[in-house]
Amino acid sequence: MYIITNIYFITAIAAIGGALFGFDISSMSAIIGTKQYNDFYGPNIDSDVQGGITAAMPGGSFCGALASGFLSDRMGRKYSIQIGALTWVLGSISICIAKNIPMLVLGRFTNGLAVGICSAQVPVYISEIARAEIRGRLVGCQQWAITWGIMIMFYISYGCSHMEGAISFRIPWGVQAVPGALLFIGLFFLPRSPRWLAKKDRWEEAEKNLALLHGNGDANDPYVKQEMEDIRAMVEFERRNADATFLELFKPSVINRTHIGVFTQIWSQMTGMNVMMYYITYVFAMAGLSGNNLLLSSSIQYVINVAMTVPALIWMDRWGRRKTLLVGSSLMMTWLFSNGIIMGSFGHPAPEGGVNGIKAVAWEVHGAPSKVIIANSYLFVASFAITWGPTSWAYPPELFPLRVRGKAVALCTSANWIFNFALGYFVPPAFESIKWKVYIIFGVFCAAMTVHVFFCFPETAGKSLEEIEALFQEGLPAWKTRVSNEPSPARVPRVDSSEKTDYAHDAV
Ligand code: BGC
Repeated sequence: MYIITNIYFITAIAAIGGALFGFDISSMSAIIGTKQYNDFYGPNIDSDVQGGITAAMPGGSFCGALASGFLSDRMGRKYSIQIGALTWVLGSISICIAKNIPMLVLGRFTNGLAVGICSAQVPVYISEIARAEIRGRLVGCQQWAITWGIMIMFYISYGCSHMEGAISFRIPWGVQAVPGALLFIGLFFLPRSPRWLAKKDRWEEAEKNLALLHGNGDANDPYVKQEMEDIRAMVEFERRNADATFLELFKPSVINRTHIGVFTQIWSQMTGMNVMMYYITYVFAMAGLSGNNLLLSSSIQYVINVAMTVPALIWMDRWGRRKTLLVGSSLMMTWLFSNGIIMGSFGHPAPEGGVNGIKAVAWEVHGAPSKVIIANSYLFVASFAITWGPTSWAYPPELFPLRVRGKAVALCTSANWIFNFALGYFVPPAFESIKWKVYIIFGVFCAAMTVHVFFCFPETAGKSLEEIEALFQEGLPAWKTRVSNEPSPARVPRVDSSEKTDYAHDAV
């Protein structure tokens, strides 16, 4: 079968998994408020029931992400993502045709499972086939795909909300099956991860794929040879130990990395970004916006999210992981504190029962201060998009040794989902009870993550996955680690070898 070897093309296909993630994030926001949805599944859907419908997705994602570690180590990165894609198609069909709430919940849980698998294993797959110097950019493409997915789904749902009857939500929920099917089919044409193949003792295939990916099919290409040697040394080293289990992630040699990877995802959620993604309409309603103006202003943040991820894709490998994370959390902290202080100083409680019947909108600000709140919210989204968004996906997979990578990233991603779930659930009551202080709380989290990153998160950008392994074994303090600017063997002039093993025209 024809196998695609262009690394950007491979990434584009694999990152569709990220778009599915994005679809899920915004698959409810534009629909829950519509009359059509409430007439069909209601009337008067209880807020607990709606909470359950919404939460079925992150709940499924949590389980999917955890299970993906076993799938990925056993069946490989490529096939596990394919299973995720197929599950997504099934889930989308069942949501689309759901006749009652239990069917809807089951469908959303199934979609969640799929997103859990894809969101954990796409970064593992991409980081294992990418060259070190552009690994961040390629894995970051998953984040870009997430932002596209969120934006596209929001606008499709918003557009369809003008239609009459159940079709208005059946269309967006059905249409989302299409990219899942494309991902499933596209993956047939992608190579398997050379590192996973090596781990399974399939050396010839591993070398062949590495040569196809990085040496135009030439196994004697200096970069390919170097990578092959590194992988071989690593696999042999790891062989001396028994098979990896989840427990291994908590052994003294790995636990530090497990804590860094898991906290990368926890902190990414604790920045408060999903308060904006899920509840921007509440935030802007507090700032006095309503009706179409409210929806339009809210949707702008999704566009900013897509656009501001681009500079990170171009430069994140040069900036390095540490600097990007530190600058991001400091900026977000600034916007959050500023919003909290302005709201607290210039705002007042909303009438009993909230604004427009939404209890969570329990505080109001008008006039010039409300404009600052809107501007700060956009700046906040822009700051996340250019820093924590892409880095939170690029960083965890590169922290871990090969033998535990699949399971480790699965654990980190499940931390993303459990916090995502908790925030989605608790933010509306928090707005209702502690009002503007919600901003202060998230600001404090941003301050805490800045300190944590500074002292504990080492720099991994530009280093090969095997060099990162060595870095952790040396145990250099995190703040002394730097981006690696060493030219990789790939940039060394190619030597002409008489014993070339040419795989260029020999597909996998
Ligand atoms: C986060 C999501 C968030 C998205 C926003 C991702 O990195 O994991 O929870 O909704 O970024 O762009």
